[in-house]
Amino acid sequence: MNDRAPSAAANLSNDIAIQVVDAHKTYRRGSRLIPALAGVNLTVRRGEIVAIMGASGSGKSTLLHLLAWLDKPDQGSIIIHGRNLAALSEREATQFRRHQVGVIFQQFNLIPVLTVEENVLLPARLAGRDDASTRRQARETLDLLGLIPRLGHRPDALSGGEQQRAAIARALVLRPALLLADEPTGNLDSCSAGQFWALLKQLLDLGRSTVLVVTHEPSAALQAQRVVALRDGVVVGEFDVAPGDNSAALAARYQQLAS
Ligand SMILES: Nc1ncnc2c1ncn2[C@@H]1O[C@H](COP(=O)(O)OP(=O)(O)OP(=O)(O)O)[C@@H](O)[C@H]1O
Ligand SMILES: [Mg+2]
Repeated sequence: MNDRAPSAAANLSNDIAIQVVDAHKTYRRGSRLIPALAGVNLTVRRGEIVAIMGASGSGKSTLLHLLAWLDKPDQGSIIIHGRNLAALSEREATQFRRHQVGVIFQQFNLIPVLTVEENVLLPARLAGRDDASTRRQARETLDLLGLIPRLGHRPDALSGGEQQRAAIARALVLRPALLLADEPTGNLDSCSAGQFWALLKQLLDLGRSTVLVVTHEPSAALQAQRVVALRDGVVVGEFDVAPGDNSAALAARYQQLAS
């Protein structure tokens, strides 16, 4: 047995899930440059649930795409679980994403020609983990989301809420260490939104898994431990969610930062 205590520095980097350092991203539309992120700094501890709030166009989805390494910053670093993503080869980055990160996209991104079950199993297939235990996990997740009657349906035969639930199931099927969720409850009624959070608590080891959720809804942000406010591509402030907070109190605190 190794009884040497790990160094304080090692402990610190083990404790940090996400580190975004001075991230910039500018899009080009014709001759127009659109600065989506203008120097974002953000640190999220392992096991934390953080809500990112911000007006439409403030850069929330862009930040999430950079964290999932689906898009790259023009400047700055994205460090996940101690690894600077820019230092990984494309292959390593893809492997890393498949095995450690679950993403719920704002637009769902379900594959139109695949059924619900095939969509949900796709990350397992790509990660080479399409085994019996993963299939059981997929069924369990789909069952908890009420999608068993829709297993064989294609996305265009589903309601918006059902598509969103399928996208949630797909992101959770491998029980990721890091869940990135972009407006995951935007198309669900409040009861289903409550079920979403209950599901995360049931399926993820929330003391260890990290959740970064983009949301406009104070009631969804209330489930986080911390709210980070984004405006015009920069973090303008943050606050811890207090145990006694309600949606109105949280909305008021957010408005103070955002205005
Ligand atoms: N692929 C792209 N090409 C050009 N411009 C883009 C692209 N993606 C985002 N943008 C622009 O970058 C800015 C930030 O967009 P982003 O999608 O990150 O905002 P958001 O905070 O997620 O907004 P919403 O709440 O509406 O989803 C916006 O001005 C948007 O129009
Ligand atoms: Mg968005």
